[in-house]
Amino acid sequence: MSFVEDARIRARALKKTIVLPEGDEKRTVMAASKIAREGIAAPVLLGDPAKVAATAEETGADISGITVIDPESSEKAGEYADALYEIRKAKGVTREDAAALVRDPMYFGIMMVKTGGADGLVSGAVHTTGDMLRPALQIIKTKPGIKVVSSSFLMELPNTAIGHNGLLVYSDCVVMPCPTAEELAQIAVSAADTARVLCGIEEPRVALLSFSTKGSAKHELVTKVQQAVSLAHEMAPDLLLDGELQFDAALIPEIGASKAPGSPVAGRANVFVFPDLQAGNIGYKMTQRLGGAEAVAVLQGLDKPCNDLSRGCSVEDIVTTVALTALQAQ
Ligand code: ACO
Repeated sequence: MSFVEDARIRARALKKTIVLPEGDEKRTVMAASKIAREGIAAPVLLGDPAKVAATAEETGADISGITVIDPESSEKAGEYADALYEIRKAKGVTREDAAALVRDPMYFGIMMVKTGGADGLVSGAVHTTGDMLRPALQIIKTKPGIKVVSSSFLMELPNTAIGHNGLLVYSDCVVMPCPTAEELAQIAVSAADTARVLCGIEEPRVALLSFSTKGSAKHELVTKVQQAVSLAHEMAPDLLLDGELQFDAALIPEIGASKAPGSPVAGRANVFVFPDLQAGNIGYKMTQRLGGAEAVAVLQGLDKPCNDLSRGCSVEDIVTTVALTALQAQ
């Protein structure tokens, strides 16, 4: 069974409520219909009910039984505006600002998650990564003990001999353009958590990647990764984590054994932490396009799960991301 099918089946047992702020968008409406029909989660569509209904009719999606909420007229708007004002008043948000913001489906959805009206949120079929991330960062904030929100790409390769039955976790490929050593350490610990919760990898082996393996090159960028390794060990002493490692030394057993003998991770890594966003973003796209991997992204480190879609996403991508969001909410 593929990782995606497995995630959908595991999500069904949890019966989580997931809010979709882009409620009148065609793929989102079609996905909501499938999610409800297959019991993967209870989807909530946000938007003008007449527009949502028109989209459903146009696409042939059955949305009977799916909750549709209009942020413009919802009775919850006042409560959400008050809560948003309290959270953001120190940052200069006025009561009037808060009242206007919660009429925006993105902010309304984030406030639903914040106040327990939904277990998680998925958007991005229309909005950019930043459109969703900024309110999530400002309002949901990070989990206790974690200072940085980042992402993992779950990469499923056709070759099941690689990684965990063909599954690799790449981090961070979406959020942090230029992480410090401390932020890299946090990304590594969050990625290990994602590997456990979403991929069922009981023993994540985390490689912090570089163009150097164990001091083979000297450069300030290498030093930063070495510092991140030390900090990550302090944060999570029991985690199997090592670096700095080149990608081949992290992945290929013979190369790992020769370049980093005795490492608990080299040659056997299943979680790969890239030194910055350029490397991570390029790395996941190369694995996807040249290696034929299926790639699904999730955010990690948020106190409650919110996930971003690619604007080119398919209906199936939305269904899968909702399932993963439900798993993160467990
Ligand atoms: N973790 C935790 N909190 C954060 C983070 C983070 N990674 N980044 C920003 N914040 C907090 C800030 O401290 C601030 O909090 P405050 O308002 O309470 O003080 C709040 O979030 C907003 O911060 P800003 O500085 O206003 O936001 P910024 O302009 O830095 O935007 C963003 C943050 C959107 C994450 C930015 O870093 C970004 O654009 N990253 C790249 C996204 C992207 O384009 N990715 C590639 C494409 S996606 C793909 O290919 C799949």
